[in-house]
Amino acid sequence: MIGWLYDLLSERSERAGIEARRRELLAPLEGDVLEVGVGTGRNLPHYVRARRVVAIEPDSGMAKRLPERLAAAKIPVEVVSASAERLPFPDASFDAAVSTFVFCSVDDPAVALAEIHRVLRPGGRFILMEHVRGDGRTARWQDRLTPLHRRLAGNCRLNRDTRAAVASAGFDTREVRAAELPASHPLVRPSIYGVAIKTSS
Ligand SMILES: C[S@@+](CC[C@H](N)C(=O)[O-])C[C@H]1O[C@@H](n2cnc3c(N)ncnc32)[C@H](O)[C@@H]1O
Repeated sequence: MIGWLYDLLSERSERAGIEARRRELLAPLEGDVLEVGVGTGRNLPHYVRARRVVAIEPDSGMAKRLPERLAAAKIPVEVVSASAERLPFPDASFDAAVSTFVFCSVDDPAVALAEIHRVLRPGGRFILMEHVRGDGRTARWQDRLTPLHRRLAGNCRLNRDTRAAVASAGFDTREVRAAELPASHPLVRPSIYGVAIKTSS
């Protein structure tokens, strides 16, 4: 994916409310934080209390945009080239994990979620904001257009049920809410955001 294009295309919805939601979700985080799929670093300005952030990103095209946002970060950030399906970190080594708009394009969500679960300490928080499969007519169109959308938009599926996948991976999703993404196309508008807690070990 081309980082500058991603930033340009998402600017309107960021200003319409997504940026504010990033701040609301990330500012309270403390301790050691893992961010998966950091992309161009849109979350980085919003970490203010964390001890450190370790950010993984497999796509060098997206990571090219990182230096500027890394320079402006308020806390130490280490960037590691890795995929969520294979996290190069020990068990229970993070207090929180973060994923925003990543699980639509991860190849194997069950494996990636198992990895996030593994590296979180017991009771650790998984903060997420993802666009997801909607209902009824929206879901039918999402199913129809996902093969094309994947090709045009960096492997992004329109129809992932990420809340169910997170719950199946051993997280309590009671604090994960449904919402509509502001200023977005109707097929990416259904979304979830909030905090999932690692329950089972
Ligand atoms: C739509 S961008 C979102 C970037 C950023 N998280 C944000 O909120 O703006 C999706 C990102 O997920 C990354 N990604 C896709 N598959 C991944 C995987 N298996 N592991 C880690 N990151 C992945 C992509 O490289 C891309 O940077």
